[in-house]
Amino acid sequence: MNTIRLMKPYVSFDEVEAEFRSVFSSGIFTRGEHVEAFRKDLARFTGAKHVHLATSATTALWVCLKLLGIGPGDEVVISDFSFPATANVVEDLGARPVFADVCRDTYNMLADTLAPLLGPRTKAVIFVDALGNPSGLHAISTLCRSRGIPLIEDAACAIGSSEADQRCGSIADLTCFSFHPRKLISTGEGGAITTNRDDWSQWLDMKLSHGARGMKGVALDFVDFGYNFRLPELQAVMGRKQLAKIEDILVERNQVRDAYRAMLEPMGFVAQRAHPDVRFNVQSLVFAVPPGCSRDGLIAGLKARGVESTIGTYSLSATTYYTAKYAVNNPNSRWLEANTITLPCYGGVDVQVVCNAIQDSLVSR
Ligand SMILES: Cc1ncc(COP(=O)(O)O)c(C=O)c1O
Repeated sequence: MNTIRLMKPYVSFDEVEAEFRSVFSSGIFTRGEHVEAFRKDLARFTGAKHVHLATSATTALWVCLKLLGIGPGDEVVISDFSFPATANVVEDLGARPVFADVCRDTYNMLADTLAPLLGPRTKAVIFVDALGNPSGLHAISTLCRSRGIPLIEDAACAIGSSEADQRCGSIADLTCFSFHPRKLISTGEGGAITTNRDDWSQWLDMKLSHGARGMKGVALDFVDFGYNFRLPELQAVMGRKQLAKIEDILVERNQVRDAYRAMLEPMGFVAQRAHPDVRFNVQSLVFAVPPGCSRDGLIAGLKARGVESTIGTYSLSATTYYTAKYAVNNPNSRWLEANTITLPCYGGVDVQVVCNAIQDSLVSR
């Protein structure tokens, strides 16, 4: 039985072979022309003034918090329905993650829920584009601006998405992307930070390169301590190839989403909702299962029929670690963690076969 995979890569070896060969023959594996070109392409695409590549969205988020000087005694309000990296970077710096519950329709933080959580200790807000969906981002940005609180967008899933004709990467003060294999652009592992602020960009440039800025004589001038979270050249080649195709990828994924909705909504499944002014990249295709349906049973039934699926994502405050430490109960994010399922989504996936497997799994229970 051939397994229907959850995700397939949007890049093949044939597409990168020529550039890979030239990187190997030049010996320039890092800080070369492909990294610079990928940065420029991402800046053009997102509309951001500055782009910095990183090894992952996790390192990108962590560095952004360092940039903002987040540390012990500070609070960072974060969306509660996300991947644990969103909370972990806050926790790692000794600050307190404050878990904002999300909307059951869009799966995103709402301005009305966020406002009461902002206080004198709040040093930043991390809005998560849940599964690629930026619905409500401008409203959160307006609220944060009015309170003078920096907004980081965890756009790990949201490359290509936009709200009110503005692409993710140009809306928040700092935006972090992921190029993990479950994302629309995969470099194996990888990430990026975008910002419009020149001073922040200069700081990031320096910190992401060991604290070096310019030259002292014939050697680098290490003006500060720093890190190495650089994305290598081969990864940049992979990223550029996929970014060049992203419009087609977005169209294709939305077509697949429409096909699933036509078959699953009559069965009682409810798709993650995006606001009308949002262009959704459908990074993960997620539905709430019908009332009375066991989501875990459905995942098991699909597995038995050769179809990969998984949960939507996590209620961060409900993870073993964060529950024990902060004892927060956000009902919507808990409900979404328990009742949502991610289905295979990419061009060429046989939606009818997956939906038949869903129907059979439900009937056999
Ligand atoms: C919302 C969110 N934030 C952060 C991350 C971490 O991304 P990375 O694997 O690139 O570190 C992920 C990964 O899935 C994610 O979904």
